[in-house]
Amino acid sequence: MLSKKMQELMNNQIQAEFYSAQLYLAMSVYSESENFKGFAHWLKVQYQEETSHGMKFLEHIVERGGEVELKSIDAPPVKFGSMLKLFEEVLAHEKKVTAMINNLYEAALKEKDYASQIFLQWFISEQVEEEANAAEIVAQLKMIGDKSVGGLFQLDHALGHRKG
Ligand code: FEO
Repeated sequence: MLSKKMQELMNNQIQAEFYSAQLYLAMSVYSESENFKGFAHWLKVQYQEETSHGMKFLEHIVERGGEVELKSIDAPPVKFGSMLKLFEEVLAHEKKVTAMINNLYEAALKEKDYASQIFLQWFISEQVEEEANAAEIVAQLKMIGDKSVGGLFQLDHALGHRKG
């Protein structure tokens, strides 16, 4: 049985993961409107991943006999500026999510909730990957700079091949 504290934090995490999904979908639509189909594809895959993260938390609450509370999701922005600005926002957002996951893990330790500790370990590893992926794209966009349109479209093409 989940403690009330863990249940509350996990319900907040569902909301955060579904907001992440909305944010990346909005970024995908924006990228497409800017003719960057590869960036749009990468962000759409990310949207699907975030939805699956939210579902993992939802299923964990259900499996542990807790109560799922779906909370309202804020509307994401519509415009995001340059691709560099957009991916800097992705990275900053992922850092916030990492802090939330760490906070959840800390709570699971305090509550001696061993099942949640094991469950959360997957997310701790996942966040390392999420931050590394976003940081790599930010670094590549910085290398390309503002002037190399060719470089930008080359990266767009490469990101268009993301599978999962
Ligand atoms: Fe679900 Fe990108 O963290």
